[in-house]
Amino acid sequence: MNTNAIASSTAQPRATVIFTCVLAALAGLMFGLDIGVISGATQFIQAEFKITDHMIEWIVSAMMFGAAVGAVGAGWLSATLGRKRSLILGGVLFVLGSLLSGFAWSPETLIAARVVLGLAIGVATFTAPLYLAEVAPEHIRGAMISTYQLMITIGILVAFLSDTALSYHGSWRWMLGVIAIPGVLFLFGVTLLPDSPRWLMMRGRRAEAVDVLHRLRGDAQVVAREAAEIEEQLKTPQRGWHLFLENRNFRRSVGLGVLLQLMQQFTGMNVVMYYAPRIFQAMGYATDAQMWFTALVGLTNVLATFIAIALIDRWGRKPILYTGFSVMAVGLGVVGSMMNMGIQSHAAQIFTVGMLLVFIVGFAMSAGPLVWTLCSEIQPLKGRDFGIGCSTFVNWIGNMIVGATFLSLLNGIGNASTFWLYGALNLAFIALTFWLVPETKGVTLEQIERNLLSGKRLRDIGQ
Ligand code: BGC
Repeated sequence: MNTNAIASSTAQPRATVIFTCVLAALAGLMFGLDIGVISGATQFIQAEFKITDHMIEWIVSAMMFGAAVGAVGAGWLSATLGRKRSLILGGVLFVLGSLLSGFAWSPETLIAARVVLGLAIGVATFTAPLYLAEVAPEHIRGAMISTYQLMITIGILVAFLSDTALSYHGSWRWMLGVIAIPGVLFLFGVTLLPDSPRWLMMRGRRAEAVDVLHRLRGDAQVVAREAAEIEEQLKTPQRGWHLFLENRNFRRSVGLGVLLQLMQQFTGMNVVMYYAPRIFQAMGYATDAQMWFTALVGLTNVLATFIAIALIDRWGRKPILYTGFSVMAVGLGVVGSMMNMGIQSHAAQIFTVGMLLVFIVGFAMSAGPLVWTLCSEIQPLKGRDFGIGCSTFVNWIGNMIVGATFLSLLNGIGNASTFWLYGALNLAFIALTFWLVPETKGVTLEQIERNLLSGKRLRDIGQ
């Protein structure tokens, strides 16, 4: 019995951390479901309500709009309500939004439902990475936050697969409504999470914070050190917006977060997420094959995320970003060239599909997970909510722009040039990574903060 007690006392903190992070990462699952679910549903919605393409665009992008608003509000929410209760609120909105989507009686209701879903995702995509950065111990912080991205990709894949299955019956209501189920699970799981120790300290609830740290870390010395570090930082209370106006160094980290999210979105990833069937059509494939290849895209996205999880705390952030942007540039460049030459043979088709998958691998192993990780690491505590709020907001704005311009680009400058354009952007991101992105592997958030606020160059704040 004694041995058991000892074994469980050493194993428990790690188990608690993993449980905590997996649950918070379920927010990522819902994010992915939301991104993936609409592409398969639109044609059936259009047939039932007899609406124009324009109305469909409204329905699709209402979610991104809601998410942008949710991300802005989430900064304030997570500071006042706390991280945990913000996640719960996100869960409630998610369930309501999915049910309303499934039962929508008009295109307008559907738009409203998508805005509610967006709000949910905005709140969750802001709060989950913040929470993860605050509860995960340094040595696994990167991997934990990548788990969040893994859940996003699994959500997208599940949505692609469920859409494909339900498309045989044309049941768009089920496609949209069924995601309430993971929403309920999330809601249930998240109520079991501990509050973030940092947030508890911020609210003056020291004893509770220490108690949570004990459950997360187990080791009394580590707990004492972390508690003291957090307290030290809280001695100079300042808040986001004021800090932004007053402090040039904070403006630099906010700018970096915004830039990172723009880089992530302008890799062109969501072009494939929203329009994969259309891209496969341009390669000369019939409907059936389009659906299957879309599912393959989803699967590749999931699998390649494991590369990031394995490498993030070994290679570090920058080498992975260099590799990812290079792989994406090559993938898109070749897809563009194939489209330029005209894809005539079966072999050429397969090769082009392969290169599109190479692009997906490039994203999933790098910018997908790493941008979320970096954004949660680079902000000083006093402005973390505000800083992550700004960058998450920009993630959704970028997402909206990319989603809303792809078809116009194809029609305006042609297939090949559109892919080349995104390929060229990826090349430019290699240079931006070199100049501006810090290496944060294995560095404490406190150290990053000290470096930033002492005026070090952005790319040096992890040293
Ligand atoms: C991005 C999403 C994207 C997803 C694809 C996320 O990191 O923020 O916009 O759809 O990755 O896996």
